[in-house]
Amino acid sequence: MTVLSGPSLTLRPPRDSDGEGRFALGNDPEIMRMFGADPKTVPPLTLEVARDWIARLAAHPNAWVVEHEGRFLGEVRLDGVDRVARRARLAIGFYDAGKLGRGLGREAVRLALEHAFGPLGLERLTLRVLAYNERAIRCYAACGFREVHREPAAVLLDGSWHDDVIMEAYSAAFGSS
Ligand SMILES: CC(C)(COP(=O)(O)OP(=O)(O)OC[C@H]1O[C@@H](n2cnc3c(N)ncnc32)[C@H](O)[C@@H]1OP(=O)(O)O)[C@@H](O)C(=O)NCCC(=O)NCCS
Repeated sequence: MTVLSGPSLTLRPPRDSDGEGRFALGNDPEIMRMFGADPKTVPPLTLEVARDWIARLAAHPNAWVVEHEGRFLGEVRLDGVDRVARRARLAIGFYDAGKLGRGLGREAVRLALEHAFGPLGLERLTLRVLAYNERAIRCYAACGFREVHREPAAVLLDGSWHDDVIMEAYSAAFGSS
């Protein structure tokens, strides 16, 4: 797995010790909500669950741990890499609520795009984001993603239905955003 480095972040393969890093950040309610989970029903994170989560990430063919200031911050994955259709799905999550909205997401997404459109030779990345996750949508838009589709009433949370937004970025447009 290639290590991807930016000014503030390193995207690197998961290590066993990342289990402790993930566990230390717990399941922040605001972040759980951004993934579409109801914070009231998400159980507290245990060390065992955190270690299992890291082990699954380590077994993934295209997944990185995001490290910031020497600590575990989150994950970036390219799911379903299809080298024939030259496309994949991007997934990203930071787990430290104190580090959101500081430009780190844009850095991580751009590193993933450079790798996907460079060495991996992909043409298109797709992602899915809840419409109320404005921070993520602005981050993706700043990196060149555009909304291509909207799935109305995709998720039921707190008694209300919320749309999913499907966004795409293309290698031909990357660099001009
Ligand atoms: C999505 C995520 C990776 C983005 O990373 P980030 O470091 O927070 O994003 P950035 O700081 O690079 O960009 C955030 C953008 O939203 C804006 N923003 C910051 N806080 C905001 C808020 N509370 N509401 C709306 N917009 C906000 C910023 O100004 C910036 O927009 P701009 O580039 O137009 O100025 C990160 O927020 C995260 O992991 N969140 C929790 C899990 C999650 O939502 N995962 C994605 C699921 S699809």
